[in-house]
Amino acid sequence: MTTVDLKGKNVLITGPTSGIGRGTALALANAGAKLVLVARNPDKCEQVAREIVDAGGETPISIIADLSLLSKVERAADEFLATGLPLHILMNNAGLINQRRTITSEGLEQTMAVNHFAPFALTLRLLPSLKRAPSARILNITSNSYAIARLNLDDLTFKRFYWPMGPYSASKLSNIYFTRELARRLEGSDITVNAVHPGLIFTNLGIGNNPGLAQKVLGSIWSKFSLHESEGHRSPFYAATAPELEGVTGKYIADCQLAELKPIALRETPARRLWEVSETTTGVRFPT
Ligand SMILES: NC(=O)c1ccc[n+]([C@@H]2O[C@H](COP(=O)([O-])OP(=O)(O)OC[C@H]3O[C@@H](n4cnc5c(N)ncnc54)[C@H](OP(=O)(O)O)[C@@H]3O)[C@@H](O)[C@H]2O)c1
Repeated sequence: MTTVDLKGKNVLITGPTSGIGRGTALALANAGAKLVLVARNPDKCEQVAREIVDAGGETPISIIADLSLLSKVERAADEFLATGLPLHILMNNAGLINQRRTITSEGLEQTMAVNHFAPFALTLRLLPSLKRAPSARILNITSNSYAIARLNLDDLTFKRFYWPMGPYSASKLSNIYFTRELARRLEGSDITVNAVHPGLIFTNLGIGNNPGLAQKVLGSIWSKFSLHESEGHRSPFYAATAPELEGVTGKYIADCQLAELKPIALRETPARRLWEVSETTTGVRFPT
């Protein structure tokens, strides 16, 4: 039984059709929020929307978009902006790990496209809606794997060397750099932005889109060392709703509390350079 009341609040969440996003969407809807589901698969999206309504939640708005393509990110943002709704909570959750290096039709490495460039472009495009909601919160779902990242800004398509955790951990470090740099740029506004590590949760991540024996074996090992999917919403839900986080921005949240970042995530020069590269790559700029 939740004590959080989100009635009258609009929440846009990406990747609500599986794992952590699905659990978080259900929890937020259960607390009274109006959900905007941004998903690539219409059938899975409809299924989650139905689950929300069956559990007594408000009928969600569904926006269908493959977030690996910036053109679709732009369309998704436009679709939300056209509703005219203020946006109280933006949860950038969609993510993937790819066993093989995949380049999108727009020339981006797919993991970086979905996990970093999409949230970057979506967030900046949705700023007008976030500004219209009092004390809006942006949450970027990152991972503690940021700590092993090597982010080479001169090779963001991982042409030189590819292993699945390469772009994944780099994208998750990028989520934190983006969070910290955006918080700096939003200083003086009442919008906050924080990065959230949801914990090690057994979901479809790295399995759903990577069929094969190796992945199955890895999946069965992973299942033994991770928490059940039903635990995955806890930290994102906490970050989105905890009253004590009012005004807290540019921080890292793990295990339902503020957590320390390793020095690699506190570096300002790569964060600023990544911002410039991201503006150039996405064609979306922070309003001056
Ligand atoms: N699981 C963990 O232990 C863990 C740990 C740290 C951080 N995280 C982070 O948590 C977030 C959610 O991951 P999860 O574990 O819940 O994985 P998941 O079960 O695989 O869910 C990923 C979600 O992202 C969506 N998605 C993937 N590619 C997309 C695309 N091109 N366009 C639109 N949506 C796309 C998926 O849609 P489909 O349903 O259509 O595939 C799904 O809804 C990710 O950002 C991940 O990095 C997870």
